[in-house]
Amino acid sequence: MSTPHRTDRPKKQIHLAAHFPGVNNTTVWSDPASGSHIEFDSFVEFAQIAERGLFDFMFLAEGLRLREQAGEIYDLDVVGRPDTFTILAALAAVTEHLGLTGTINSTFNEPYEVARQFASLDHLSDGRAAWNVVTSWDAFTGENFRRGGYLPQGERYERARTFLDAATRLWDTWKGDEILADKASGEFLSTPAPGAFEHHDSQFDISGRFNVPRSPQGRPVIFQAGDSEEGRDFAAAKADAIFSRHSHLDDGQRFYVDVKGRLERFGRRHEDLLILPAATFVLADTDAEAVELAREIRLQQVSPATAIKLLEQLWNRDLSDHDPDGPLPTVDPSENDDLIAKGRASARSHGDRLEQAERWRAISQAKGLSTRETIVEVTGRQSFIGSAETIASTIDDFVQADAADGYILVPHITPGGLAPFVDHVVPLLQERGVFRTAYEGTTLRENLGLREPTR
Ligand SMILES: Cc1cc2nc3c(=O)[nH]c(=O)nc-3n(C[C@H](O)[C@H](O)[C@H](O)COP(=O)(O)O)c2cc1C
Repeated sequence: MSTPHRTDRPKKQIHLAAHFPGVNNTTVWSDPASGSHIEFDSFVEFAQIAERGLFDFMFLAEGLRLREQAGEIYDLDVVGRPDTFTILAALAAVTEHLGLTGTINSTFNEPYEVARQFASLDHLSDGRAAWNVVTSWDAFTGENFRRGGYLPQGERYERARTFLDAATRLWDTWKGDEILADKASGEFLSTPAPGAFEHHDSQFDISGRFNVPRSPQGRPVIFQAGDSEEGRDFAAAKADAIFSRHSHLDDGQRFYVDVKGRLERFGRRHEDLLILPAATFVLADTDAEAVELAREIRLQQVSPATAIKLLEQLWNRDLSDHDPDGPLPTVDPSENDDLIAKGRASARSHGDRLEQAERWRAISQAKGLSTRETIVEVTGRQSFIGSAETIASTIDDFVQADAADGYILVPHITPGGLAPFVDHVVPLLQERGVFRTAYEGTTLRENLGLREPTR
């Protein structure tokens, strides 16, 4: 595949990161090569492979409630997820350069607590902490918390904005020279009152003293993941990087132009915000073998039982008696707003259900596909498929063509699935001169090539 490059500038350096695969059907937990998603050894192996590949960071998503479908725990995919801070803190001790990015929502937490946790992680890791600020979307998850499923979308972003402002204020209370710890004179502090803060806005009314001294990065690198207008504006105003789902060329370029185009409005520069889509890959010795392998993986990801569950998520009704090897249901999707699938982001993204179902029916009929084959066809999000040479040149082309600044890779096997990429694709990117051969800096911010935050 060849993509037009901009020739009026030096080649962009590619950023790479690794998403520990989680609770979606991307993960083929039943494959004999798959390990645990809970045991710490898996996280260590995954992180160390990423670091061996000189990746910028490792990424953890967040899900705060077990998923359900039709009132039952959804256990066709991985179930369960340990706490982000605990894992990242432990990983700080067994890695040296890798950034540690945690998804933590701003809807159910408090700024003081989250600011303390990230400042502590930044200390523990010598400046490798990053926060993916998400707002979380559903009342079902909210039921786990004291306030319940509160806040409509607009207010969630209002809270996210003010939450991040409050956390930033807390981080900035310490300038970095407050601790003398002079054993001879017995003076511990150079100033009598460090960490003083006051923050009052529509969401928070807090004051006191922040008790974590300034951390190596001052504040963590900030990520954002929402895709709505509000989400994109929030990212353009506040974030250092966006985690998106736009991993294909045209779609990625549209998203890139849109979000980077918003920066000026917030007094920011083009290079102040990195666009890093999530991307999967299927790697084999030849392109033809990779295409075949990709098809096998899709069939592992969409078992007959999974096909029916994914069908139910669009139809929003019980289809447990439907034959996955038969045609799509003739009954139409339910218009009911109460979703059959709970705690699942993709369930909200179907838009007009009837329209979507008609689209699936048209594809199914045109290609003569069964229900399962249709689901395989329409839900596939495989990004890079091919030999190492093909994948390296496609990623390079996409980045140079501004479809992204790099990719957050999501292997389908945990924890070893990243290794083939590191061993076979990374060296080719290095040969092309578009990927580092050693970490440039000591902090994540330095490795990402981001400016120091202004205070
Ligand atoms: C690529 C991507 C990844 C996300 N990952 C998470 C996540 O791990 N945990 C979470 O609670 N929300 C996650 N979100 C949800 C967003 O933070 C946000 O709450 C949701 O997308 C609704 O906002 P929006 O309407 O702006 O997209 C993710 C969203 C996107 C687009």
